Amino acid sequence: MRPAITLAGVTPAATIGIIGGGQLARMLHAASIGLGLRIRLLAEGPDVSAAQVVAQVTVGDYTDLRTVREFAAGCDVVTFDHEHVPTEILHALVADGVAVRPGPEALVHAQDKVVMRRHLSSLGVPCPAFAVVADAEELTAFGDQHGWPVIAKTSRGGYDGKGVWKLDAPAQAGTPFAGLTPGVAIIAEEFIDFSRELSALVARRPGGQSVAYPITETVQTDGICTDTVTPAPGLTPIAIRECQALAVRIAEELDVVGILAVELMQARDGSVVVNELAMRPHNTGHWTIDGAVTSQFENHLRAVADLPLGATRCRAPWSVMANVLGGSHPDLLAALDPVLAADPELRVQLYGKGVVPGRKVGHVTALGDDLETTTRRARRGADLLKGIGDE
Ligand SMILES: Nc1ncnc2c1ncn2[C@@H]1O[C@H](COP(=O)(O)OP(=O)(O)OP(=O)(O)O)[C@@H](O)[C@H]1O
Ligand SMILES: [Mg+2]
Repeated sequence: MRPAITLAGVTPAATIGIIGGGQLARMLHAASIGLGLRIRLLAEGPDVSAAQVVAQVTVGDYTDLRTVREFAAGCDVVTFDHEHVPTEILHALVADGVAVRPGPEALVHAQDKVVMRRHLSSLGVPCPAFAVVADAEELTAFGDQHGWPVIAKTSRGGYDGKGVWKLDAPAQAGTPFAGLTPGVAIIAEEFIDFSRELSALVARRPGGQSVAYPITETVQTDGICTDTVTPAPGLTPIAIRECQALAVRIAEELDVVGILAVELMQARDGSVVVNELAMRPHNTGHWTIDGAVTSQFENHLRAVADLPLGATRCRAPWSVMANVLGGSHPDLLAALDPVLAADPELRVQLYGKGVVPGRKVGHVTALGDDLETTTRRARRGADLLKGIGDE
């Protein structure tokens, strides 16, 4: 019998297994402490971000069924830091009777963009026009039909803009097919000339209770999320409700448990289309640690443990998060002093990762009453940590 705690009549999962030891697992661990939930980690190595802080760490390969099975046997529920665990392994766990949250039927929509596009389109969810294309010729035909530029994407394995190409003309149609991993498809997508990108975050429990966060505006630079602003400036109350309702509907239709992040592109006429889905805490929700009543990390844990979800309200008129990407400071801790001294109200999270140029190594969040000042403070904090502007 596994240990279980009883709270208000429900028996939540007390030991939560997280597959993947990145910064999301590290921040999930932080959120677990106050709730008294135990975390077990299946990490890629002994020193990865979350392995530095979690007490019970198994170092192993998440693509190896035996390793994942043995790990899951010690957990009440299994959840994720990333979406790369092969779907077959997740199905095997479910067949073993393991509570996998989100389950493989849901998670495949965050793993495979073809599955996601087909299913969302069949539900009538607004998406860019798309087609799976076998070669440069088919991609060119798609571009000629829908217009250039064309966005091409790998169906699986992309992150931080890797595996996404903007192709301006037929001459570039061969690019996505060079060195393509076997079993990975290329999707051609209509280029959306968006005015901005938004993120709609919801948390959902197994029984169906869900809560929606305020909508966030996200800024991508070279394919990497660099800043977020919450609430998204200028979004009308109707548009806010529509984005939230869309995310809740997707969570329900796909039976997502945990956090669902719906990445949206907003066209100049205000309409939105879905870019992609993530079923784990998301970079665009990091502001919630300091800026929301309940963080996305805590609500993910509550959801997968089947506990009542927490309020998503903002704690301040504006929350601005700026990612810290690896820069010229090899030692982030050395840069902490001037950052903290410059702005005692700034909230800083460092992930314990080695500094590599362009790698996400931390983030800062500023809360405030005035958008311009709050944005400036967040960006200045991130810049100082990156080694910019401290001459
Ligand atoms: N159809 C499109 N039209 C215009 N721009 C797009 C389109 N699809 C994607 N993009 C741009 O490319 C970025 C990355 O695309 P996507 O989110 O699919 O890639 P990813 O690498 O899997 O994601 P992530 O960076 O979130 O891990 C988007 O945030 C958006 O800026
Ligand atoms: Mg994306």
